[in-house]
Amino acid sequence: MPAKQLLQDKDRKFQMLFEDHPQAMWVVDPKENRILEANAAAEALYGHTREQFRGMSLDAVLVSEEGGTPSGSPRRHRTSSGRIIDVEMGRHDIEFGGHPAELVVLLDITGRRLLEDQLRQAQKMEAVGMLAGGVAHDFNNLLTIISGYSQLILNALPAGDPNHYSAEQILKAGERAATLTRQLLTYSRPQGVQPRVLDLNKLVTSLSTLLRRLIGEDVDLQLALRPDLGRVSADPGQIEQVLMNLVVNARDAMPKGGTLTIETANVELDESYAGRHLAVKPGPYVQLAVSDNGGGMDEATQARLFEPFFTTKTSGRGTGLGLSTVFGIVKQSGGNLDVYSVPDRGTSVKVYLPRLDQPAAVEAESARRKVAKGSETVLLVEDEEMVRSLVRESLVRAGYRVMDTSDPLEARRLSENYRGTIHLLITDVVMPKVSGRELAGELQAARQGMKVLYMSGYTDNGIVNAGILCKGVAFLQKPFTPAALTEKVREVLESAGRTHHAGE
Ligand SMILES: Nc1ncnc2c1ncn2[C@@H]1O[C@H](COP(=O)(O)OP(=O)(O)OP(=O)(O)O)[C@@H](O)[C@H]1O
Ligand SMILES: [Mg+2]
Repeated sequence: MPAKQLLQDKDRKFQMLFEDHPQAMWVVDPKENRILEANAAAEALYGHTREQFRGMSLDAVLVSEEGGTPSGSPRRHRTSSGRIIDVEMGRHDIEFGGHPAELVVLLDITGRRLLEDQLRQAQKMEAVGMLAGGVAHDFNNLLTIISGYSQLILNALPAGDPNHYSAEQILKAGERAATLTRQLLTYSRPQGVQPRVLDLNKLVTSLSTLLRRLIGEDVDLQLALRPDLGRVSADPGQIEQVLMNLVVNARDAMPKGGTLTIETANVELDESYAGRHLAVKPGPYVQLAVSDNGGGMDEATQARLFEPFFTTKTSGRGTGLGLSTVFGIVKQSGGNLDVYSVPDRGTSVKVYLPRLDQPAAVEAESARRKVAKGSETVLLVEDEEMVRSLVRESLVRAGYRVMDTSDPLEARRLSENYRGTIHLLITDVVMPKVSGRELAGELQAARQGMKVLYMSGYTDNGIVNAGILCKGVAFLQKPFTPAALTEKVREVLESAGRTHHAGE
């Protein structure tokens, strides 16, 4: 074969490889830093035609970054439409048309970068969540004591006693602190969530009177509720909290008034959406959107939006827990949320919750028993001294016979030596030596028919994951009031059958 023919053959092969390669490529003149040739994939990625590419300086696509980019790290390029993409470039020396040139292989990593950012954000949120959960745990014990004892004092004070007001203030402060702690816990991990089949339209409608009052007269509330909206499975109290937080934020963004829209819709999140968002499954969702035409947010604010305690509001106006709570609830419900915001134009927060295909089960709201007294025998195990004596005192006042101990091993002995019936075991979930769950399992093996009520402020040992969702596990979340305790105790004692322990 003559030499010329060989060369043409090589050129043709290169041409074919270059042209049809799925990866975007340029041939670049390294001296001039100009593009000599581009392939079809590069045309598709950048939106420039080959003719436009030829002779184009590399600086024309490069988005200049302050301080320059270290070589080898990804660069940001601008496409013909102005879209910014992240690319990794591989360079190889070649010969092109008889001159030394560079073959530049371009890898679009915009999607990967997006997911990496989300992953980093998720990891940060998880770390903060664990920290918050730990603090909230200790707070819960203290608040149970503060609220509980002030309620006991209140009950004992005769009407008209001058100390009434003081005790009431302590109780109120305790309750406010408990709400804050609960918010922290919601954010950090699922606690005592009671999901039900919900019609979000009904929930929005029934809350709208309250919402109107919340936002004042200068803001116009518009509802755009999709008539044949699918159902979702979520805790109604939590979704109300989501709605209130979003509505209050929207109101705060419109101090001079404006329009606040709450919108519901059936949507499908497709593979491409799921691919761009961490931990989102494609499928049918119900969308709940809260929009305002207020001040909007700049990029810096948007980046930190979901961080607990991040607020741009003056102290006293905001704690910065609103959106982190919303985030926690929505994620725990298997959903996702998107925020769109343009400075000076407004903000739209879209919450997606997985859509169920079944129609709403008709919820018969059982009339709650108010009679909370009883005379059964209760075995109480709680290592926190003050919580234990509060529970004991509340139960004794309500007529129960109570044996109590701080030590699960002692509880075992008490149960072995007691001849009568123990109707109910109330135990903390997290205890040193033996867990509440193990203790309950052991005692129930010996005492058929004994019911179990778990108490906890914060758990990390599976009762939440395995337990709360499993029907039949009775669980009381700290901090609780004596009234909630005695009510729960009645409920458990009167429930049919034996209580399962968590994880069964
Ligand atoms: N609709 C909105 N428009 C403009 N900015 C918003 C909007 N929603 C949230 N933000 C910004 O995000 C920040 C965090 O919101 P978040 O709800 O978490 O806390 P907060 O409203 O400041 O306090 P809290 O909700 O605890 O009272 C706000 O301080 C505000 O800067
Ligand atoms: Mg808020």
